[in-house]
Amino acid sequence: MAYAAFKSIGAYIPPKIMTNADFEKIIDTTDEWIVKRTGIKERRISEENEASSDLGYKAAEVAIKRAGINKEDIDLVICATVTPDYLCMPSTACLIASKLDLPPVQAFDISAACTGFVYALSIAKAFIESGMKKNVLIVGAETYTSILDYTDRGTCFIFGDGAGAAMICATSNKDEAIIDVNCCSDGNYSDLIKTPGGGSLHPCSQEVLDQKMACIKMKGNETFKLAVKTLTSDVQVMMKKHNLINEDINHFIPHQANMRIIKAVGTALKLTEEQTVVTVDRYGNTSAASIPMAMNYAYEQGKIKAGHTILFDAFGSGLTWGSALFPFAGKE
Ligand code: UT7
Repeated sequence: MAYAAFKSIGAYIPPKIMTNADFEKIIDTTDEWIVKRTGIKERRISEENEASSDLGYKAAEVAIKRAGINKEDIDLVICATVTPDYLCMPSTACLIASKLDLPPVQAFDISAACTGFVYALSIAKAFIESGMKKNVLIVGAETYTSILDYTDRGTCFIFGDGAGAAMICATSNKDEAIIDVNCCSDGNYSDLIKTPGGGSLHPCSQEVLDQKMACIKMKGNETFKLAVKTLTSDVQVMMKKHNLINEDINHFIPHQANMRIIKAVGTALKLTEEQTVVTVDRYGNTSAASIPMAMNYAYEQGKIKAGHTILFDAFGSGLTWGSALFPFAGKE
């Protein structure tokens, strides 16, 4: 049986920075309030003509190079995004494959909001373990600035743009194998975070435009409480299932939504600050790109070494949630 190994990580961080001071100029808020409530100090924003595929393919270039894989050997591209270049088609994954200059390859998008990268990892693992694919490129790419309502002071300051990518490759070495990926959803909570217009329920119309219904609407406080509860229990289940104790985890990489959520989950799980990767202060919430961007940050800081045990923990619209446990099988 083939095992799936997490071979490399890469990211693209758009250079343009939007600070809390910039938000003070456009909504009724303060830097102090945003930092206290979320931990966010700044976030990155893409250029006007840049779409998710532009960010995604740049992150992918880094991940492919670090994995030492020939582009011709990539046999599947999965892009997790809720801010695709085009509303319906073609998929952002097809565009990323084209921008990477890959030969014809299976490519598709998945939609699981902030849990998207973990969902993509679960699919990559299944394809490899089934023997259908050998080298899967997974990308989380978001341009949230394209769906933000800059008059909604409860939501617009949270999100940012960016992309992360990883190569997941077949191996016969069980020590390198991804141990487990668990993904779940509960559509009964679909009202908490949504873009209400522009889809088949409320197709694009003057009302959709006037009411900014294609922009993200979030019930922040209700989401907050569920996020803490779900992120905590998800990890508890994963650790118990694999007989792990806190000290076994080298890097806990949670979805970067809010510093208070990360701290509450870390405290409940008794994980230390040293074990927990935090980038929400510098990148804000980048949805499907948040976990790979955070992992890339820790990697580039020289903190992630080959063989280190990594635990992902994600949560987002759907609701969706998921966790992943694996040894890093890449080079330092
Ligand atoms: O990535 C997917 C998952 N998403 C999340 O996990 C997001 C989770 N939610 C959050 O991060 C937080 O709920 C927010 C940061 C969105 C909001 O923080 P909160 O502590 O839940 O604030 P709140 O919505 O309960 O609002 C508290 C007060 C309100 O004023 P009153 O009614 O108490 O007078 C708001 O009007 O803060 C006010 N407020 C603001 N004040 C200054 C809301 N937004 C702002 C703002 N600046 N930008």
